[in-house]
Amino acid sequence: MDALTCIKTRRSIRKFKDTPVPQEIIDDIIDCARRAPSAHNYQPWAFIVVRDQDQKEKLSQIQPWSFFMAGAPVCIVLCMTNTGTDFSPSNYLSVACAGENILLAAHAHGLASCWTYVKDFNNSKPEQKARKILLVPEDVEIIALIPIGYPDQKASPKQVKELKKLLHQEQW
Ligand SMILES: Cc1cc2nc3c(=O)[nH]c(=O)nc-3n(C[C@H](O)[C@H](O)[C@H](O)COP(=O)(O)O)c2cc1C
Repeated sequence: MDALTCIKTRRSIRKFKDTPVPQEIIDDIIDCARRAPSAHNYQPWAFIVVRDQDQKEKLSQIQPWSFFMAGAPVCIVLCMTNTGTDFSPSNYLSVACAGENILLAAHAHGLASCWTYVKDFNNSKPEQKARKILLVPEDVEIIALIPIGYPDQKASPKQVKELKKLLHQEQW
């Protein structure tokens, strides 16, 4: 699949087949994630690959919209490092770029995925719960959980906002 088709056809999928996902594919997805652009080139990210069913069951309960986590063969945990001297608020944007690379790389491999939030600036509970389950140190922030598996659901074409409502030429 070429890059443009990959970007234009990716959808969030929340139902997965039991079919195991080969480790080489997960390694390649993480390789794509770590190549994302980042402010100051800090590369402020780290990843945890979770396959253990008990752990995925626990993660599926950290917030109301991650219940389908347990049904995915793999969960990639997207974390943010550089919370000390190299901290910049832009690190959140950089980590989001790495997250998008995960979604696109998964899709390019014929896999389904869905970003599920952990970091909620209005509610620290999901992150606290995930930290406890995954033993993540306090100086690392947990941004998202991304379940990965072969799709067991067909996504309908996406309704996107009309271009004329969001595109301006030269000035707003
Ligand atoms: C920051 C962020 C947080 C999200 N959190 C969740 C979530 O907790 N649970 C969920 O099912 N989907 C979540 N999503 C997926 C969105 O619902 C999805 O991207 C959106 O509906 C557009 O659909 P698409 O991904 O198929 O284009 C999240 C997406 C983003 C970018």
